[in-house]
Amino acid sequence: MIHKIGVMDSGFGGLSVLNELTKQIPNADYFYYGDLKNSPYGSKDPAEVYNFCEEICDFFISKQVNGIVIACNTATSVAIEKLRKKLSIPIFGMEPAIKPAVLENPNENIAVLATPLTLNEKKFLDLEKKLQAETNLKLFSCDGLASLIDKRDSIGLDEYLEPIFNTLDSESIKTIVLGCTHYVHIKNLFFKKNPNYKIYDGNEGTVRQVARNLISIPMDRESKLDIFLNGGSESDFETAYFYLNQTTQSEQDYVK
Ligand code: DGL
Repeated sequence: MIHKIGVMDSGFGGLSVLNELTKQIPNADYFYYGDLKNSPYGSKDPAEVYNFCEEICDFFISKQVNGIVIACNTATSVAIEKLRKKLSIPIFGMEPAIKPAVLENPNENIAVLATPLTLNEKKFLDLEKKLQAETNLKLFSCDGLASLIDKRDSIGLDEYLEPIFNTLDSESIKTIVLGCTHYVHIKNLFFKKNPNYKIYDGNEGTVRQVARNLISIPMDRESKLDIFLNGGSESDFETAYFYLNQTTQSEQDYVK
């Protein structure tokens, strides 16, 4: 029975997954690890990212978690298979939600935003090959976007997103897959630009999978949350609490 879940990311992106976890599985304990010291992962060497993930998972084991969510598409791409072989507890990961986007919007152009590392890894290339048949996937390799989200740099974010929005406009793309857990935090900026965008992310799917693997957690137990920010300062903790639960609110604000 899983009742203490370790959730990891390079920074604050995994908090968007944690928000979904606490919504669907409110009675588990959570240990969140944001690896700010080594972020961003998305432009690093895969072997280096694997080492960070392995260290974090060892840390989780020392905290007696009995399930791990790699709440980062980039880390999942490079590390999940090896970690599953190494560790004996269940490990869940992320996948850009291309499949539902393609199935629900056949013959349409679909934008996929993710880190350079995610888009270059075999896991993504295999998925793309499998699903591309009747759909045109327009890939946006978003180097640096996650860091702007970690810094809550709203001016930088507007500047970064402008050319992306222009391309979406000029190519009449309305369906967007957010293939990085950080980007889920800025869904509101997409809806602000165009309330008709159809946005997909992998958070709900991953959490459904976690929930299916829980045998039963007594409903009346109280949930606990620990947050560890590697290399984090006081203001980073403020940012973490800003992003906690923020996703749900922004969806309520912008999805009519
Ligand atoms: N949150 C991570 C993801 O889902 C990536 C951010 C980074 O580049 O560190 O891919």
